[in-house]
Amino acid sequence: MTVTSDPVVLMKQEVGKAAAQRVKSDSIVGLGTGSTTAYAIQYIGERIQSGELKNIVGVPTSFQAEVLARKYGVPLTTLDVIDHMDLAIDGADEVDPQKNLIKGGGAAHTREKIVDSLADQFIVVVDGGKLVDHLGSTFLLPVEVIPMAVSPVIKAIEKLGGKPELRMGVKKAGPVVTDQGNLVIDVKFDKIEDPANLEKTLNNIPGVLENGLFVGVADIILVGEIIEGKPVV
Ligand code: 5RP
Repeated sequence: MTVTSDPVVLMKQEVGKAAAQRVKSDSIVGLGTGSTTAYAIQYIGERIQSGELKNIVGVPTSFQAEVLARKYGVPLTTLDVIDHMDLAIDGADEVDPQKNLIKGGGAAHTREKIVDSLADQFIVVVDGGKLVDHLGSTFLLPVEVIPMAVSPVIKAIEKLGGKPELRMGVKKAGPVVTDQGNLVIDVKFDKIEDPANLEKTLNNIPGVLENGLFVGVADIILVGEIIEGKPVV
């Protein structure tokens, strides 16, 4: 494990560990994407290597999750060969009081939604700063789009009242490309009043693959806080 005194990193480690501790032997586990879930994958791997956890297989939600699982020794499988998933652990960019989420900060929300929604139990790992009264208050809503449809999708989103922007990569050298080879449009909505309806409406635009609204998918939210300089879950 990385040795650090940075309280934010320590807090992410604690939340990841708390989620990893909920994994039981003989389980199929969805492995989420992002800096918080990375610690959960690491701890699951450590529990497997120590012999504490047996007969675990993971389903990665991204190339990043796959690389981390291999690094920490978590055996992997695919949706083609399993008939259920016991648990999924994943991060989020915003969480509302109804446990609805915005995800996709890492451009992985399409595969995350497939895996997280198949799990019997979906555990979300976040820091307290991700809790909001209304989705869309602090984070833009990611929408994965097939490249040739970017312009018409942008126009359709503007008609819905959103302010769309194509996500650019490091140093704006080019657009961010998803694991599926698509692009991401980040959308500012003033206030998302009805996330369930917006989720469906956006996915109905031709060219949209999936958006980052996760409505009614999360079961448990594990929240990390820093209290008196110490990480607490
Ligand atoms: C990736 C995601 C991540 O889970 C989300 O961005 C949270 O990441 P982090 O734990 O690094 O804040 O949705 O698509």
